[in-house]
Amino acid sequence: MYDPRISIIEKRLKKIGKVIAVSSGKGGVGKSLFASALALALTKKGFRTGLFDIDFTSPTTHIVLGAANLSPRESKGLIPPKIYGLKYMSLVFYIGNRSIPLRGADLSNVLVEMLATTLWGNLNFLVIDMPPGMSDLLLDVIKYVSKTHFLIVTTPSKMAFETVRRLMNLLRDLKVPILGVIENMKMDDSNYVEREVKSLGEKFLGEIHFDSGLEKALGDIKSLLKTSFMSEIEEAILAKNPEITS
Ligand SMILES: Nc1ncnc2c1ncn2[C@@H]1O[C@H](COP(=O)(O)OP(=O)(O)OP(=O)(O)O)[C@@H](O)[C@H]1O
Ligand SMILES: [Mg+2]
Repeated sequence: MYDPRISIIEKRLKKIGKVIAVSSGKGGVGKSLFASALALALTKKGFRTGLFDIDFTSPTTHIVLGAANLSPRESKGLIPPKIYGLKYMSLVFYIGNRSIPLRGADLSNVLVEMLATTLWGNLNFLVIDMPPGMSDLLLDVIKYVSKTHFLIVTTPSKMAFETVRRLMNLLRDLKVPILGVIENMKMDDSNYVEREVKSLGEKFLGEIHFDSGLEKALGDIKSLLKTSFMSEIEEAILAKNPEITS
C-alpha cells in the first residue's frame, strides 16, 4: 500500500549534513548516554545538531538532558524544542510516563510519522539514539534515512562484543557505512575489543572509562559537561577521529 508520508521523509531530512545512529547489538551498554553526550559535544563545538530518541517504548535521553518538560511547537509540522542549543525530539513529549508496548509494525509507523512530521531544518548533524539490537527500527532507519552512518557502542565484555560483531556483519552485508566502535565502561587495560574490531577491518574509535560521578550529573547539562565521560568524548573520541565530524 502506498504511504504518502514516505515521499516526504527525504524532503524533511534534506538539509541535514550527516546522520549518526548510535547503535549496539546489546542493551545497557551506554548508547543513550553516549548519543546525548555526543550531541551536546557537537553543539558545544558550534555544529548545528539534533538528537532524535527512537527508543520509542523505553526512551531515556530526556533523563540525561533533563528535558521531560519541554514540548515541540506545531507549525506545519513539529518544531523540536532546543535545549542548550540542541534540537531535541522524543516520543516522551507525547506519552509522558505512560507505557506504550508496540509491535514491530507499529514501531515502524511511529518512526515514519515522526520522520515525516518533524521539521529539523538546517543541521550539520542529527544523532539518533537507537533501541538495542537488530529490530524493525534498525532496518527502517537504514531504509528511510539514507545518509545514516552507524556508530557502534560496546562494553569490554565478550558477550556485548559478540552481539556487536553480528550487527557489524549485518551492516556490512547491507553496505551501510560504519563510523567505528566505541568501547564504553572500560575498567581495565584489556585490548580484546580493539583487536577484534581491527581484525574485522573496522575502525576502533577509542574507549570511555567507567565514570562513577556520572549518575549524579544526569538531568543537569552543566554538570554533565564537567564529567570525565564528557571530556573523554571530546578529547579521546572526537579530537582523535576527525572523520566523525567531516
Ligand atoms: N562510562 C560510564 N560510566 C558510568 N556509567 C555509565 C557509563 N556509560 C553508561 N553508564 C550508565 O549505564 C546505564 C546504561 O546506559 P544507557 O541507558 O545509556 O545504555 P543503553 O545502551 O542506551 O541502554 P538500552 O539498551 O536499555 O537503551 C545508565 O545508568 C548509564 O548512566
Ligand atoms: Mg538507550
